[in-house]
This record gives sequence, structure tokens and C-alpha cells, in this order.
Amino acid sequence: MRTIKIFDTTLRDGEQSPGASMNLREKLEVAAALAELGVDVIEAGFAIASPGDFESVREVARVVRGSSVCSLARCVESDIDAAAESLKDAEQPRIHVFLATSPIHRQYKLKMTTEKNVETVHSAVTYARQFCQDIEFSAEDATRTEIDHLCRVVETAINAGATTVNIPDTVGYATPTEMYERIDNLMNRVPNIDKATISVHNHNDLGMAVATSLAAVWAGAGQVECTINGLGERAGNCSLEEVVMAIKTRHDIYNASTRIITQKLVPTSRLVATVTGLKVPRNKAIVGQNAFAHESGIHQDGMLKNPTTYEIMLPSDVGFPKTDLVLGKHSGRAALADRASRLGFELDAEQLSKIFIEFKKLADRKRNIYDDDILALIEQNIHEQPDNIKENDTWSFVSYNLHCQTGKEPVISLALSYKNKEYTKEISGGDGPIDAIFLAIRDLTQTNISLKEYNVQSVTDGQDAQGEVTILINQNKETYRGYAVSTDTIEASTIAILNAVNRFRKLNIAKSKNH
Ligand code: KIV
Ligand code: ZN
Repeated sequence: MRTIKIFDTTLRDGEQSPGASMNLREKLEVAAALAELGVDVIEAGFAIASPGDFESVREVARVVRGSSVCSLARCVESDIDAAAESLKDAEQPRIHVFLATSPIHRQYKLKMTTEKNVETVHSAVTYARQFCQDIEFSAEDATRTEIDHLCRVVETAINAGATTVNIPDTVGYATPTEMYERIDNLMNRVPNIDKATISVHNHNDLGMAVATSLAAVWAGAGQVECTINGLGERAGNCSLEEVVMAIKTRHDIYNASTRIITQKLVPTSRLVATVTGLKVPRNKAIVGQNAFAHESGIHQDGMLKNPTTYEIMLPSDVGFPKTDLVLGKHSGRAALADRASRLGFELDAEQLSKIFIEFKKLADRKRNIYDDDILALIEQNIHEQPDNIKENDTWSFVSYNLHCQTGKEPVISLALSYKNKEYTKEISGGDGPIDAIFLAIRDLTQTNISLKEYNVQSVTDGQDAQGEVTILINQNKETYRGYAVSTDTIEASTIAILNAVNRFRKLNIAKSKNH
């Protein structure tokens, strides 16, 4: 098995993403995480670009041990001098020189002939080589360069002392097949190709950066340049986590491995997302929040029977604590029973049916159902049920219609059911909607309750969180507690009050039976 080198350019190409700039402290934090992740090379910046860039390359070079630290430089002596100077304290320094080689760049950007192009590569690599042994040369826009010219440039760079030659798809234009052919061509046509590692650096403009990088590995490339979360110019670079996990998961195809400690991928991704402020989409492969989350009932059932039914990698292999069986409207009974059991409740068939009905109702109103929501459902439907009055002996909520307006009394029409019959009361009055509900309940249930305490709080985070209502009511000098949850706090308040009414009725029935 070959070991593919992972060259991370989050701190250089990644930082070139609009909005992704990092300060020195943040760069040092990311560099330390990259070294721990096991990347072979950290491109820490472009030393000549600004005093800030110079300082960050120098500081990263001072602290990082175990990975090479690299600075980018154009094929210009002052650039190479700055790169060499910034890398003075590196344990394993690498100077990375680049020159565009494609006809478009030669003609419009550099105004350079092919001869001059080759000569410039030769003199820059030779110049850089006097400062350190590890020199990388990149043929910018290599995938749009004539193959004969590219072969000449690569041969020249290696003859001048480049130990790595990089073939960037600078504009993300190549298809995987083209990339395979290009690397294969270089491997077969450049006579001294075995004296250097061939690398790729692919941009993601057509969403193919990972695919083209893998094609290059298949053709014999020994280094992949990539970034955490796929950050980088425009649509970004090849994503490190994706290419690494593709090599690992499909080692049967690539017959290769990397030194990356894959369990650190998620923490590193999170760190980079936090310091750059560029959030990782939920559905991003490998590190997105949904990457190991299953919601459909069929998938969850399969996962519970055997995780390999729907998972090709272990979540723990990339640093996620566990598979997330997200409970939502597509979930089935098996997933609900499993979650309840993990939360400490072994539901019998009847309880499960009951909770499942409530769960589906809730799922229609709320996108994600969290553990706290499940606990609330269990609490509300099983634990809090006054068990020695029959189901239809209790008052239950049917519907409400509420009209509130600033400066006017609320008007509520409340429908409750008792012994399979529906009763409706319309009330205009009260200090606010909850008071109006309270008055309507008092009227409908023919009780004399008064509200002692009312408390509402959200069960989980987010706009669609459920409201959890706890109330204390007084009746005949006794206090009774009521509890309910719903995404609709008016509904939760009504059910909580009824919950307390049913409780004191239950106790009164029990007392009268004892007399
Ligand atoms: O995209 C590119 O070609 C680059 C080079 C400087 C390697 O970033
Ligand atoms: Zn790039």
C-alpha cells in the first residue's frame, strides 16, 4: 500500500476564501490542530504577501513539530528570500514556488514565451534549493497547459532540484478522466519523474475537486493538496476530510493510505468553522451534522438491526461520538422505543402506541425531536396520567380559538371533552390569554380553582422548540401541580391546567371512595 502525503493549505489557499481570514492566534491554533491531525505538510502562508503573512508563517514554523511547514513564493528571488527567512525556525521547512504554465496565463498574465517559462522555473527552483532541501514547484493552471510543455516544465523543475512537483487544477476545470490521463501521461513521459513526488491541487469550481484528486491518486500521484472543510479560493479546494476518508474507506480501490488520524477530523473541522466563521453545511460529507444522522423509519429500523445497512463508515472513525437517529416525522416505532429505552424508559406495547401517536402529532409541528422532547412526552402521557380515574373521566383539551388585541380584553372560545362529550365556552375577559383560558376552564369544569404559579420555558433550543408549562393551582386550600409541553404555549397552558384539575379530581374520587 502506498502512503499518500496530505498537504494542507487551509492557512494559505483556505484563508484566501472571501471572509475566512484568521488572526495570528487563530492560525496558530489551526496549525497545532493540523499537526495533531497528522498532516504531512502545513502550508502556513505566502510570506511575501504581507508582514502579517510573514509573521504567521514564522510563528507556525517555530511551534509546529512533526509536520513540514511551507511558505508559498512566486518564481521571484525576493519572494523566495522571504519564504526562506520565514521558515528559518522550522523543523522541516519546505519552499513552494509556483509559476503559471498555461497558454492563457503565459499570454495574458505573464506575457512570457514558453522558453522563458521553462527558464524561469529552472532558475527559481535552483535559487530556492540553496535555502532548503525540500522544494515544491507548482505549475499553476497545469490542467489547461499543453501536455508537451507541461512535461518539459516538470522535467526541468525536477532537474533543478524540486522534490515535489504539483499539478494544480487551478480553475477547477478538469474532469476526473482528464486528470487521470494527465498524471498518467506525466508518469510515462517525464524521464526523471521517479525523482520527485507528483502532487495535485484541485479547485472545486465544478464540484469535482475530490473526484479529480482521487483520479490523480489512482494514476500514481503521491501527494494531495487540500483544505479543511474544502475552504479555498472561489468554490474552494479539495476537502481534506473527504479525500482522506475516500482513500481510507475505498482502500480496496486506491490501494493507499494516509497518516491522518481520522478520529480528529470532526474536531478539526469544527475548529476551522469556528475561527473562520464559515459554517459547515449540515449535509457536508464526513463532517456535516447530518453525515451520520438517519431520520427515515426504514433507515432507522435497518440501522438498529445492523449499522452497515446504511453506514459505510463508523461515525467514531471521523470523530463523531455516535450515529444520530434523528427523531422526526419519518421515524418509526422502533426508533422511538430505542430512544425511550436509552433514556431509561422501557415502554410496553400499549405505552409505546400511546407515545407514538403523540410523537407523530408533535413531529408534524416540529422539525427535530430531541431527547428532552421525548422525556416530556413520556412525562406527560405516562408518568403524569392520573391512573385511577378512567381515561374518559378526565377533562381533555380539544381546541381553542383566541383573539387578543392590545388594550382590549381577550376573547376565547375553548372546547374540552369529558366522558366522550364536547363542551365549549366562549369568554371575553381576563388580564391576558392565559387568564382567559383559566376562566374558561373554571367555568367548563365547574371548579373553583385559582392560579398559584405559572411557569413557561422552552424545552430545547431553536425557534420551533416546545414550550414546557408547569402550573400550580389551588382548590379547597390544596395545591395541585399540572404539566404539559407543546410547540403552542397556549395549548400547553390549557393542557397543564387540565392536568392539575384531573389530578385533584382523582384525589377527591379516591378520598370519597375511602369514606
Ligand atoms: O490554485 C493554484 O494553482 C494554487 C497554486 C499557487 C498552487 O493555489
Ligand atoms: Zn489554489
